Amino acid sequence: MVMTNNSASAISHPNIAFIKYWGNKNEKIRIPKNNSISMNLDGLETRTRVTFGIDNEADQLVLNGEEIDGEGRERVSRLLDQVRITAGISDKAKVESTNNFPTGSGIASSASAFAALSLAASAAAGLSPNIKELSKLARTGSGSACRSVPAGFVEWFAGQTHEDSFAASIAPADHWDLVDCIAVVSQEHKATGSTGGHAIAGTSPLQEGRVADAQRRLDLCREAILSKDFKAFAEITELDSTMMHAVMMTSTPSLYYWQAETLRIMQAVQNWRMDGLQACFTIDAGPNVHVICPAEHSAQVAELLTKLPGVQKVLSAKPGGPTKLIPE
Ligand code: DP6
Repeated sequence: MVMTNNSASAISHPNIAFIKYWGNKNEKIRIPKNNSISMNLDGLETRTRVTFGIDNEADQLVLNGEEIDGEGRERVSRLLDQVRITAGISDKAKVESTNNFPTGSGIASSASAFAALSLAASAAAGLSPNIKELSKLARTGSGSACRSVPAGFVEWFAGQTHEDSFAASIAPADHWDLVDCIAVVSQEHKATGSTGGHAIAGTSPLQEGRVADAQRRLDLCREAILSKDFKAFAEITELDSTMMHAVMMTSTPSLYYWQAETLRIMQAVQNWRMDGLQACFTIDAGPNVHVICPAEHSAQVAELLTKLPGVQKVLSAKPGGPTKLIPE
């Protein structure tokens, strides 16, 4: 079947994981070693428009107004191929995507990018997948993207196969007034991205222990979120982040994402908490620090962070909604 100019647009938020995804059982289709838990980040967003039926030999990708070739475009094409197979079409597509947050600001854009792409491409191809189907599709583009599909606080069930590896909401966005204050210390592109990192996670002798203990951390984190127990949440979130970084630092080759400023912020946050301020840190595959706190403390936390040496700026985000279609 050949279609003519069918397009759709979707919006998606990035997410921050409290229990991290690091390492896969199946690299190709991104079946992770352990479940993960995250929160979508409101206010930060990717908007993506997909148009099938363009007169071109290959798919076209335009990111923040700039035409992208190479591996970035191929990764998008591989996801579009799956949509084409399901919809029974062969048309090439134009994908236009913009982020309202700075690229390289330490906020993973691949999560919101592949979640928005999955929904816009499905709708443009005439499909209407449910949240589970959409989450599975997004996962194949970027693992953490499956968690940007459902709303609010989300768990990704690792599963064993494509069919049973997807994310679902464990609490809506308005369940708990948390804020992620993101302390940006570097805007440089990281040398080794997440995909390369997942592939070598198993070379760390610590990865087996991290994965073996994951169920306990997941249960503690899920329970802390559901009961809004900040103290328990803070302890398990920091532990999980540092366990992932211990794996990163002890893999071959070793990955050190922390900079001097990163560690200084981690120590400051722990000192503030000892002094009674509710705040905790978590760090992804980069040097920037996500400081999570209840909304009533977020202005104070953001101000304190701004004063720390090396902090270039602080972005703030509340729990965000699901990936959704937007009018063209
Ligand atoms: C450190 O989802 O970016 O942010 O599947 O290769 O695209 P790919 O990896 P990605 O990995 C995210 C890693 C992390 C932790 C997390 O978000 O759980």
